[in-house]
Amino acid sequence: MAAKTPFRHVFRIASRHASLVSSSPSLLPPCLSSVRSFKTEATTPPRIPEFAFAFDIDGVLVRSSDPLPRAHQALSYLQSNQIPFIFLTNGGGKHESERVADLSAKLDIPLSTSMFVQSHTPFADMNEYKDKTVMVVGGDEDRCRVVAEKYGFKTVVTPGDILAAYPDVWPFSQQLLPYYKNFTRALPAPIDPSSPSTSLKIDAVFVYNDPRDWGLDTQIIKDVLLSHAGILGTLSSKNGDASLPNKGYQQDGQPPLYFSNPDLLWAAKYHLPRLGQGGFREALEGVWAAITGGPDAGVKLQKIVMGKPHRPTYEFAEKRLITHRRELFKHFESDGRLGQLKRVYMVGDNPESDILGGNSYESPHGTDWASVLVQTGVYVEGTEPAHKPKQIVGDVLDAVEWAVGQEGWSK
Ligand code: G3P
Ligand code: MG
Repeated sequence: MAAKTPFRHVFRIASRHASLVSSSPSLLPPCLSSVRSFKTEATTPPRIPEFAFAFDIDGVLVRSSDPLPRAHQALSYLQSNQIPFIFLTNGGGKHESERVADLSAKLDIPLSTSMFVQSHTPFADMNEYKDKTVMVVGGDEDRCRVVAEKYGFKTVVTPGDILAAYPDVWPFSQQLLPYYKNFTRALPAPIDPSSPSTSLKIDAVFVYNDPRDWGLDTQIIKDVLLSHAGILGTLSSKNGDASLPNKGYQQDGQPPLYFSNPDLLWAAKYHLPRLGQGGFREALEGVWAAITGGPDAGVKLQKIVMGKPHRPTYEFAEKRLITHRRELFKHFESDGRLGQLKRVYMVGDNPESDILGGNSYESPHGTDWASVLVQTGVYVEGTEPAHKPKQIVGDVLDAVEWAVGQEGWSK
């Protein structure tokens, strides 16, 4: 099978080259795009895989910043066999191009942003808010604001900006003011309840990544949700009005509240799972219930939660995977050899997000999503997972080997 030798050889050369990462329109890392055309002219690939992979990141490929032992081997095997894969993570906090550069360097693998779906990547398509004032919550310093601006959001405010401008808004982060002053910005408008028409108005709230200052972020989000029409410093007269739906809460033009990631727990460096964005949301829901009376009083926190296991994130990821696969084999599309993507192996460490999401996703293309659970992250070996995967394996390389075995794909 001569075809593979030159590709693998070229790949090895590629991995030594710095230019591993691409966000170029050709959708392939620079070192791969030349290979394929070489491949096309010289040798027609013996076959085009009808299957592909979607890899979770934390707990599968890395633990916080440390690459997991056999991650490089698993991905380089797929690349040298031209088996398509994407990354589908509930993580985020940096722009896709930055995360791809990080991951590519850590795993020593050429990657491109077209293969990458973070929890907040779908926010980039929310054009209806790009000319409005949005609040972005979570992540390190104001990195998520920078991401939102790169997505095209023109006016982005953070809870830190509000604290820096009005320290009394949250008395318990005063000691953090010097830290906040390093990256906060002046507000686009003052908080002035005496002049609601000129006071700071928030049109949407996006929780992009795991919040760092739960106290401040909870206070500010609560203030926005109890306000009149998202105007900070005001209080809606409809709050508590039992004649209204949701007892009048969030019934007065308050902005929508988006969460990008539902994970209560995730696998970081520590040997036990850590609280994630879902932990923050549960805490916020607790405060909201205490203030409004909560479900017992018929009040819910109205919100949109995205990320795995939710369907919109899988639809978004599947589109990315189909486009990426089409790009990988675009020379074979015209003669119909590309064919349909029949199966996607969703490899993850978290039964609540990766496995539930893979199991419950019904593809509009009829593609079968098969979930594979690894034991290098949240899931603990020997316990009963909350959602049953197609297969439980040791680590990501075991997952790849099991899946290609299922497909009868030999080296
Ligand atoms: O904050 C990230 C965490 O919730 C999980 O990330 O890559 O395992 O989906 P991941
Ligand atoms: Mg994970």
